[in-house]
Amino acid sequence: MKQSEALFDRAQQLMPGGVNSPVRAFRSVGGTPLYMDRGEGAYVYDVDQKRYLDFCNSWGPLILGHNRAEVNQAIKQVIDRGWTFGTPVREEIELAEMVLSRLPHVDLIRFVNSGTEAVMSAVRLARGYTGRERILKFSGCYHGHADYLLIEGGSGLATLGKPSSAGVPEAFAALTSNVPLNAPAKLQRYFEELGDQTAAVLMEGVPANNGLLVQETDLIHLLRKLCDQYGVVLIFDEVLSGFRVPRHTAHQYYGITPDLVTFGKVIGGGMPVGAYGGRDEIMRQVAPLGPVYQAGTLSGNPVAMAAGKATLQIYFEEHVQDRIMALGQYLDSCISPLCGPTSFGYTRIGSLFWLYFHRETPPLAAEDIVEGSAESYARLHRFMLKCGIYLAPSAYEVGFLNAAMTEADMDFFVDALGRYLELEHS
Ligand SMILES: Cc1ncc(COP(=O)(O)O)c(C=O)c1O
Repeated sequence: MKQSEALFDRAQQLMPGGVNSPVRAFRSVGGTPLYMDRGEGAYVYDVDQKRYLDFCNSWGPLILGHNRAEVNQAIKQVIDRGWTFGTPVREEIELAEMVLSRLPHVDLIRFVNSGTEAVMSAVRLARGYTGRERILKFSGCYHGHADYLLIEGGSGLATLGKPSSAGVPEAFAALTSNVPLNAPAKLQRYFEELGDQTAAVLMEGVPANNGLLVQETDLIHLLRKLCDQYGVVLIFDEVLSGFRVPRHTAHQYYGITPDLVTFGKVIGGGMPVGAYGGRDEIMRQVAPLGPVYQAGTLSGNPVAMAAGKATLQIYFEEHVQDRIMALGQYLDSCISPLCGPTSFGYTRIGSLFWLYFHRETPPLAAEDIVEGSAESYARLHRFMLKCGIYLAPSAYEVGFLNAAMTEADMDFFVDALGRYLELEHS
């Protein structure tokens, strides 16, 4: 802790809040952020050389765990030849082929540098394609930090959204509406009022940025039907859910065909990557084929493409999704006896899990998360750090399993949870 504290003191003189992404500052769990020094498999080591079982996985990309040898090698091999040219490179074709061969509904793909950029570009494309401006999203879903996506629901259903960040113009908010998750009647009403003015609906493949709010299949199918009926582009944002849920993507899990899909995280293997793709007819609107402009100095750079390709190759060859599913089922069976309204609840899909508080059943909408959850989580988080377990520093973030984790790691985690409950109830 000592060295992390010293580094954080220095950082606060240099960067807003000492960090380059707000949740890293530990504000909602208290204490000093840990500075990580290295990672190996399921574990990370901080600068004081304390070891932690890591459920953050760099916020999701590290589906194989830390520093997997083949990915490390793939990155080094590229770097030895020079790492960026600003020209097309072979690696982008190889990654595109790998992704498209597994996703029958995606005809063309464009790589960018982050999930935010992917969603931003997909929304522009949907607007260009439909000639409409309005978009709909769901409360509690996060799609990156573009102006018109940092919007909360306004007072009325189909009324204007309001900015959830300073600096976002009201005029942008006016084009974004929110409806709650798990609310089919409200969704239907939105379409009746504004469907024919709407360019796109954005749905997080599995809402996992404000708790893990896995939606029922019926709602997703209703959404697809309404989008068809009103000529609205359905964008499935799979930045987080991509290659982390059964059948690889949430749209395949639910058995629907979105018009556009966005990716990030796993497809870059831990390097900065995003991507958007979809139906040929829509993707052909993107420059240089069509009038929708989108570009990037480092888009498709060979280092990120090689890291993504090496990661996905192992993911498919070693049936990582199936293996993690089995590990997840083991975790379910160990955790369930500890769960209850006076301890915590637990929910999981694929390699994503979440601990929630003060409820009998998992919430399905942001509005159902019980107040006071953040304080309960903060106590748990502090205890886990002492035990050598690194959970995301926010009650609303999910935990990530990876292919390097074992049943012994799950036992270690569950044992610590048991000790935490004894302490809480003593
Ligand atoms: C569903 C979803 N979309 C978009 C983003 C933004 O991605 P990035 O942080 O790479 O910009 C995230 C980030 O967590 C996400 O989970």
